[in-house]
Amino acid sequence: MGGNVLVTGGAGYIGSVTARAFARSGRRVVVLDDFSTGHADNVRWGPLVTGDIADKDLVRGLVRDAQITAVVHFAAKALVGESVRDPALYDHWNREKTEALVEVCAEGGVSAFVFSSTCAVYGTPDQVPIPVAHDRAPVNPYGVSKARCEDAIAGSGMPHALLRYFNAAGAVPAARLGERHDPETHLIPLTLRARVTGNPLTIFGTDYPTPDGTCIRDYIHVLDLADAHLRALAHLEAGQPSGAWNLGTGGGASVREVIQAVERVTEGKVPVQEGVRREGDPAALVADARSAERDLGWHPAHSELDRIVADAWAYERGDVA
Ligand SMILES: NC(=O)c1ccc[n+]([C@@H]2O[C@H](COP(=O)([O-])OP(=O)(O)OC[C@H]3O[C@@H](n4cnc5c(N)ncnc54)[C@H](O)[C@@H]3O)[C@@H](O)[C@H]2O)c1
Repeated sequence: MGGNVLVTGGAGYIGSVTARAFARSGRRVVVLDDFSTGHADNVRWGPLVTGDIADKDLVRGLVRDAQITAVVHFAAKALVGESVRDPALYDHWNREKTEALVEVCAEGGVSAFVFSSTCAVYGTPDQVPIPVAHDRAPVNPYGVSKARCEDAIAGSGMPHALLRYFNAAGAVPAARLGERHDPETHLIPLTLRARVTGNPLTIFGTDYPTPDGTCIRDYIHVLDLADAHLRALAHLEAGQPSGAWNLGTGGGASVREVIQAVERVTEGKVPVQEGVRREGDPAALVADARSAERDLGWHPAHSELDRIVADAWAYERGDVA
């Protein structure tokens, strides 16, 4: 068994599910979170330290005293629209704070660093499914900030895994862990909300060059993302090479297909209204994740769309059976 794992952002959506997975695998986790978007009741899998990843004294002491050998770094701001309105905030919050964290971890002898990156680093791809070797050309400040974080980590000398998630989705209803973003911008919780409230879901663009005219995204169950982090850390701890990996199914579903899945699972109609395209929304973002399968032995076993929706629906309804 390896040493202790620091999970930054472990009070958030993906971080809490991953902290749970590490704890269940027998690893001791310590969560560092400032609660800027996280929830205290998500932290149940190890001690909590409340604070900022950029507080160098705090992190230095934590790495030393808690004998941290590995860091899994989720803490970030992740709203594309907010980043367009305030690019400086994203440069500060994501790039600068991550640079501070990376510096202290490298000095403290951390020997494996796993990072939550995103398909937003690719921008508008010229090849779909997107291979991990595709050029990075982000089209919004969120994607730019994540690309700069990747650069800082890759330049730190620490063994590292840059995990580029596509669309995280689903929940772990039995553990009462799921999406609780505020504002919520993700399609599946918004569609479930429209189903419950009767307030229509807006479809942004119905004239894309896709089979049904709506955008296609690659939805990946949060349990499969968590599993990829365990595998990435095991890979690094086995002395295997650092790198970047895409995490997606290689499939993808259109907005209309997601709505249909919600209607199937919830056995009811989702009210919709058709709107215009949003600026900067590529028609299709689908992962070529074959290198994660090859190098990490990862397979997205929970990411069939109806399973994702069923788990998100059970979480929204508070079903814990
Ligand atoms: N949700 C997705 O679809 C998706 C897709 C690609 C990448 N990502 C990345 O995954 C990560 C987690 O996303 P999420 O959806 O779980 O977000 P989230 O907002 O639920 O979780 C982020 C957590 O980090 C904490 N945090 C933020 N800044 C901090 C700081 N400076 N110091 C300490 N804690 C801080 C927040 O309080 C929160 O608990 C992010 O890095 C995001 O960019 C998410």
